Amino acid sequence: MRYFLTLYILAIVAFIGIAGFRGEITRKPPIEVFPDMDRQMKLRPQEPNRFFGNQRSSQPYVEGTIARGMPYQDIPVNTGRISGSTNWVEVSPIEITESVMSRGRERYNISCAPCHGAAGDGKGITTKYGMVAVANFHDARLVEMADGEIFNTITHGKNLMGSYGANVKIEDRWAIIAYLRALQRSRLSKMDDVPEPQQAAL
Ligand code: HEC
Repeated sequence: MRYFLTLYILAIVAFIGIAGFRGEITRKPPIEVFPDMDRQMKLRPQEPNRFFGNQRSSQPYVEGTIARGMPYQDIPVNTGRISGSTNWVEVSPIEITESVMSRGRERYNISCAPCHGAAGDGKGITTKYGMVAVANFHDARLVEMADGEIFNTITHGKNLMGSYGANVKIEDRWAIIAYLRALQRSRLSKMDDVPEPQQAAL
């Protein structure tokens, strides 16, 4: 009984000390033993900032890139399909010029020829190392295939062929298709396609 009063008072003090003032609102910052990167230097969007040459914190997109998650327009150039439908566009939506054609040849030889062969006959170098069933562009089925479907195959791949959408940008895909058509044409042309003055030489 001698210690009861002392222990009783100690218990009350301890209780109030630990639980008594919890939930109090204060404007003072809490004591921070480990700040855990709570506060960091950062750029706020749309604020001026002297770090970049143009003094803006929000920088324009790097040319040729697309922001991830951006909705993209449902137009034939992007999808190879007639807008609002699932039907392929028969003919390339871009204008085929000489520079498009030579760009197409260059890109074809980089991205497609290793498998499909420089002549498009499906006998690229990879077939010598075990790549099987590479499509031959001179097959009637692929000659007749709509440009839009070929665009889709480049973008998303098909069966054994992987997708090249991430490696080959949109304009280049259409340029490749133009060149691929020229390859096909090279085996389909008739004597009448040769300009008359050159016919005699053949
Ligand atoms: C790594 C090898 C490889 C590369 C590179 C490649 N392809 Fe293919 N491609 C294939 C194979 C294999 C098939 C046959 C797919 C199947 O039917 O299983 C194919 C099929 C195709 C077809 C026919 C699809 C169909 O509907 O049957 C087209 C068109 C085509 N490729 C175009 C291209 C173009 C254009 C490129 C260049 C951008 C390219 N491919 C690059 C391996 C490749």
